Amino acid sequence: MPLSSFIHVFEPGTDHSAPPLLLLHGTGGNERDLLRLGHTLSPGSALLSPRGQVSEGGALRFFARLAEGIFDPAEVTRRTLALADWVEAAAKDYDLDPTRLLAVGFSNGANVAATMLQLRPASLGGGILLRPMVVLDQPAAPHSLTGKRILLLNGNVDPIVPLDHPPRLATLLRAGDADVSQQMLPASHNLTPGDIAAAQGWLGRDKL
Ligand code: MLT
Repeated sequence: MPLSSFIHVFEPGTDHSAPPLLLLHGTGGNERDLLRLGHTLSPGSALLSPRGQVSEGGALRFFARLAEGIFDPAEVTRRTLALADWVEAAAKDYDLDPTRLLAVGFSNGANVAATMLQLRPASLGGGILLRPMVVLDQPAAPHSLTGKRILLLNGNVDPIVPLDHPPRLATLLRAGDADVSQQMLPASHNLTPGDIAAAQGWLGRDKL
């Protein structure tokens, strides 16, 4: 798949010990949205940041939604696999190790990171999923996520993500043997300083 099939930003890493990050923006965002977050979370990481290809009245996303929280599993699957194909090709072109590639996704970007982990586990090494929900109610295949670390960060007053979704998503990912940490923060759908601190702590880079 040609690199140009997803508009994207790539910033080479400056610290080879830092994992490469796949940045996945939320609805209405673009490929530049999470660059600062990537630098903050993991200084020196290579950053690969594609732009979602689905337009919802001009707001870009990674897959369509029929209504708030309502999805077409076939469309989600098709879009997820196309993104995973591109990520795998881009990782080759940019010389990134897919087993170390960490998705950092917010909202719709967190959701597509989750569906990539469910449907194409080899495309990612793990992920930090900020405000994810259950989009595909299907467990990861047994052993498909062995050795992969995943952090789920949700807010306890988020009007978009129902409270039962984060533990359900954790269970779906643990079915593939993923090492899942799940935290509920005193927050709504927007990110807070608590998200940054939790993600840095999980990355083990909070003292940098
Ligand atoms: C989604 O559609 O993926 C979720 O509702 C999150 C969002 O608002 O984008």
